[in-house]
Amino acid sequence: MILPGLIDVHTHLRVPGGEHKEDFATGTAAALAGGITMILAMPNTSPPIATPAVLADTLTIAQQSIRCDVGLYAGASGEHLSTLGEMARQTAALKIYLNDTFGTLRIDDVPTLIDCFKIWPKEKPIALHAEKQSMAVAIAMSAVYDRPVHIVHVSRKEEIELIADAKMRGLKVTCEVAPHHLFLNQSDFERLGPLADMRPVLGTPEDVASLWSHINDTVDCIATDHAPHTLEEKRSANPPPGIVGLQTSLPLMWTAVTENRLSQKRLVELMHHNPKKIFDLPEQPDTFVEIEPEVKTTIRNSDILSRCGWTPFDGREVVGKIKRVILRGEEVFAHGQVIAEPGSGRVITANSV
Ligand code: NCD
Ligand code: ZN
Repeated sequence: MILPGLIDVHTHLRVPGGEHKEDFATGTAAALAGGITMILAMPNTSPPIATPAVLADTLTIAQQSIRCDVGLYAGASGEHLSTLGEMARQTAALKIYLNDTFGTLRIDDVPTLIDCFKIWPKEKPIALHAEKQSMAVAIAMSAVYDRPVHIVHVSRKEEIELIADAKMRGLKVTCEVAPHHLFLNQSDFERLGPLADMRPVLGTPEDVASLWSHINDTVDCIATDHAPHTLEEKRSANPPPGIVGLQTSLPLMWTAVTENRLSQKRLVELMHHNPKKIFDLPEQPDTFVEIEPEVKTTIRNSDILSRCGWTPFDGREVVGKIKRVILRGEEVFAHGQVIAEPGSGRVITANSV
């Protein structure tokens, strides 16, 4: 069974400043092992990727160490508005955080938000972390300034329903859902404690059912929100939110295909065609993923290539094994081994700029 190289538009690679959790070489190895050949990396690093200087340094490190193709997000920060526009050319998109989460990036006043929408070039995508009523703000901004917005990791019934209504009215809103919001719910806290804590928090069974009921229309992309933190950090007095997802996204979604919860065609739309279209990403010629569609495997912490080395899905049985991944004609993952060397991936920007 052959699938195109998958695209993850929501990954945290922790460079700069969080390399003990993940770096470009480990994170992109995990991506390839999960059938993902292109990722967009989030800017909530330390320092954040919110100035041209941090962006330039991060791009240099990326070029030396990525094993698959990586685009960077510029992070919106009220302190650095004067240089925001300078980052557009070398990044894939802008990320605006309207809600609290890991890291310091946050826009919490309307004038700054308006500035971001006016400064960022109209042809470049804007992605927003916008939960609950913030999502209404994000959709209003899209309507007022007549430009597309992409809402990240949608997790609640009320939110997916609001997006469905916005789309019905012709507004330029797209969204992604993370596998953990489709395959875990609030009750998993009892078993996993802080290991099941992330932003947005896990939903109720009703939220999860609502996301699934919109999988064929309202949901545009599956995005991992791969957010590594070490076990030590997660078990500390002040655990950071976030879990990894690069290696488990395709096996979980393929299992859903085998259970007739979505079609194979829809999976490819959600994990390749739609991300590519929404973010105007370049073609990766001769790039594909070979899977053994009926082989059952068990997800294990010991197989996690992310530096943090654990997953909340440890012990879960899935159907579909990733056998080989080919990127631009080269074998980059085969039979459990990552072959691509650090530095062999390409830094990408959106096609249009
Ligand atoms: C993310 C992280 O750790 O960077 N955490 C999370 O719980 N999702 C930040 C984010 O995407 O909100
Ligand atoms: Zn995230």
